[in-house]
Amino acid sequence: MGYRLTRRGILSGGALGAAASLTACATGSASLAEAKGAFPPSAAPLPLFGPAEGQALLSRNENPYGPSPSALDAISKSASKGAYYTNAEAIQSLMKLIAERHGVDPEQVVVTTGSGEALSAIALIYGPKGPIVAPRLFWDTTSLYAANLGMASITRIPLTADMEIDYAGIEAAITPQTGMVQLCNPNNPTGLTTPGSVIRPAVASMAAKTTVVVDEAYIELTDDESAITCMPLVKEGKNVIITRTFSKIYGMAGIRVGYTISSAETAAKIRATVMSSAPCTSTAAAIACYNDEAFITYSKGKIVEGRQMVEATLGTLGLPYLKSQTNFVYFQSGKPANDLQKAMAAEKISIRGQYMDYVPWSRVSMGKIEDVTRFCKTLPRLIGA
Ligand SMILES: Cc1ncc(COP(=O)(O)O)c(C=O)c1O
Repeated sequence: MGYRLTRRGILSGGALGAAASLTACATGSASLAEAKGAFPPSAAPLPLFGPAEGQALLSRNENPYGPSPSALDAISKSASKGAYYTNAEAIQSLMKLIAERHGVDPEQVVVTTGSGEALSAIALIYGPKGPIVAPRLFWDTTSLYAANLGMASITRIPLTADMEIDYAGIEAAITPQTGMVQLCNPNNPTGLTTPGSVIRPAVASMAAKTTVVVDEAYIELTDDESAITCMPLVKEGKNVIITRTFSKIYGMAGIRVGYTISSAETAAKIRATVMSSAPCTSTAAAIACYNDEAFITYSKGKIVEGRQMVEATLGTLGLPYLKSQTNFVYFQSGKPANDLQKAMAAEKISIRGQYMDYVPWSRVSMGKIEDVTRFCKTLPRLIGA
């Protein structure tokens, strides 16, 4: 398969190199072992929580600007009641807050321990019916979880020449046996965002044939969430499940809170399948920060600041990268991703290694500004610029 260079998402000063390496990663099929080597070996023993002193952690799409002070205060207060199971009223309060923001009924909301738990439950519900149809690159951890249990298989549809999701290709792959379609918008690891004007009609059409899950883990980081989200489709009664998380914009990846929004009937199925109940501390934190607009603005501002620094560096170096609206950037350094990851690890900077057979593509997450600065200063030396 060849690639054109007029693609919308790829920005580059070195377009020819991009064409060659895109072609190199365009073929081949996925294997379950491809997630291996995702994270670099740490040079020093890690502390129990968070990165080691001097380690720039830019590999896991975390947001070091959270948790918000409001969440931290709620965690410490609720921890003193940790002897007790979380009251149903607390979970209902969070469901109500979420429902109010999105204009749905609280019964349509399921609160989970991270959106990963919700997505795993969804894969277990729909996977046994038939293949999970998805873009070739997406956040596949939870589909692989069900696949590894023998409860699902994944049909991966190649990305377009622009590394975008091929919605027509995905729809064409739906059969009466399909378990569900899983999409990720913005997508991970590409960071590319599909506008609502494109994704909504595509999802509406697919949802007439099968259940469609839209993982919106990073949507609060985008320029205009309301122009992108598929939430209106749930409200129109389409067979669509939206997943969201407190791990990204709220900076609470270790606190573990996520949620789904769907029909009340589907929500009941998800609720019956999840395996844990929300800890009191996580529930309290989520209630405290969900509408903390000052924190949300600050958090997004820091992420955008870091992203602009990375984009400026890649632009100056003439390296191809995909235009991201998330807290990570997918780029080509001219070195195989695993080699760059190793060289960065020696500098105590962790970035993501190779995905599948996408050898030339590296992913760097936005961390603390000082860590992003280190990445930007180190990159030219490591690529010999
Ligand atoms: C696209 C996407 N969805 C979901 C998740 C899971 O996040 P969590 O389980 O922390 O909510 C991640 C984690 O990085 C992700 O990248």
